[in-house]
Amino acid sequence: MGSFIVEGRNSLEGIVDIGGSKNAALPILASTVITGREYILENIPDIEDVKDMLEILSMMGCSVQFENGIALIDTRGLNTHIVPEKLVRKIRSSIILMGAVLQRTGQVEVAYPGGCEIGHRPIDLHLKGLRKLGVEITEKNGLLVGKVKEPAACDIHLDYPSVGATENIMLFAVGNPGKTNIHNPAREPEIVDLQNFLNACGFCVNGAGTGIITIEGKKADSTGTVEYKIISDRIEAGTYLSAAATMKSKIYIRNIEKSHFQSIITLYEDAGCEIRERNGTIIVANNKRIKAIEKITTQPYPGFPTDMQAQFMASMAVADGVSIIEETVFDSRMKHVPELQKMGANITTIGRVAVVEGVEKLYSAEVDARDLRGGAALVIAAMGAEGISKINNIHHIKRGYEKFIYKLQNLGVIITETE
Ligand code: EPZ
Repeated sequence: MGSFIVEGRNSLEGIVDIGGSKNAALPILASTVITGREYILENIPDIEDVKDMLEILSMMGCSVQFENGIALIDTRGLNTHIVPEKLVRKIRSSIILMGAVLQRTGQVEVAYPGGCEIGHRPIDLHLKGLRKLGVEITEKNGLLVGKVKEPAACDIHLDYPSVGATENIMLFAVGNPGKTNIHNPAREPEIVDLQNFLNACGFCVNGAGTGIITIEGKKADSTGTVEYKIISDRIEAGTYLSAAATMKSKIYIRNIEKSHFQSIITLYEDAGCEIRERNGTIIVANNKRIKAIEKITTQPYPGFPTDMQAQFMASMAVADGVSIIEETVFDSRMKHVPELQKMGANITTIGRVAVVEGVEKLYSAEVDARDLRGGAALVIAAMGAEGISKINNIHHIKRGYEKFIYKLQNLGVIITETE
């Protein structure tokens, strides 16, 4: 499964270039199925989840080329409405192919994605929205079978601003004649990027990032090639910011839109980090022990993102003072706590609340990554710990961090990989 060996040290210095957003790339790759045509997508991150999604498209008959951050995709060859089961199990976010395949073929078969390391991950809001838009969906022995009966356009109110449900509804509604309004949608920058991509494809979507997304359904033309560059990854940027805040550092974070991770920047400024922007580069300087933040709660965008909760906890583990971190988005996203405790972190959890009493320094240990962001948090903890740590199951981390070792070494981290 692979491990990282990390030698603790006291400071980070250098430049890190942020790659394309995993959570923008995945729905945009799924969207290429809606209309059979050619696409040139830029700033696509070279990570396992993207490679898995590209493999799904290829197994469904599309032609796919990917190198140097550029994906060339031709979906005219799509020859099935069945999403390969073994890959759905591997990458649960492939559930957002439902809306796109339904719009393209009028039917879909996809395995129920089920839970994962951070919670049981229901898709009731996805199914409720698609059914309201005229799709008949039956569930039998772990398989979801969808058939378009009467394609509709209507008002859909999401009980929770689910990112995936918003995306699935968008990808199906864009081709249904009439006006669909999604109320209480997810407002993440990745949703805005998806809207911009769909409009580049000739669809008509407005309001992403606000409380109502309006879709004027239409059949898009399939002539010509769609060229599009996706946004950079705000969680990757936040992860390097967390690393810099956890020890003495001066790092330059390039190729990221500051407003996309403002909630993270503000939090670390409140913790005493000096963060400036110069010509689009975020400069993080930290020359002292950071202060604890009394209370932080993860929220849908623009609140503090759940995808930064573990990394922030690694910072608070060595902060001066006591912080309370509440996870409100997922029901089981604290698996990094026992691993951080092995490194000497003083953390008590009560349900989805963690009370973190900062210690001067963590010490090295052998720990296990249990999910993508928790694994990144363990690497952050190990960077500043005393001694040499080993982080196992790094396949979790490779799902979402492009060139992770290379970028960390560039910042002065002593990290190697072993089998
Ligand atoms: C997306 O997951 C992201 N993944 C997640 O990033 C991110 O943590 C999450 O949004 C929240 O921002 C991708 O974009 C590929 P949700 P998604 O639907 O769409 C509940 C990472 O580390 N819910 O917004 O699955 C659900 O159980 C990953 O990069 C329902 O109840 O998230 C959860 O508690 C992890 N019913 C909450 O909503 C539904 O039908 C948020 O889920 C759908 C969701």
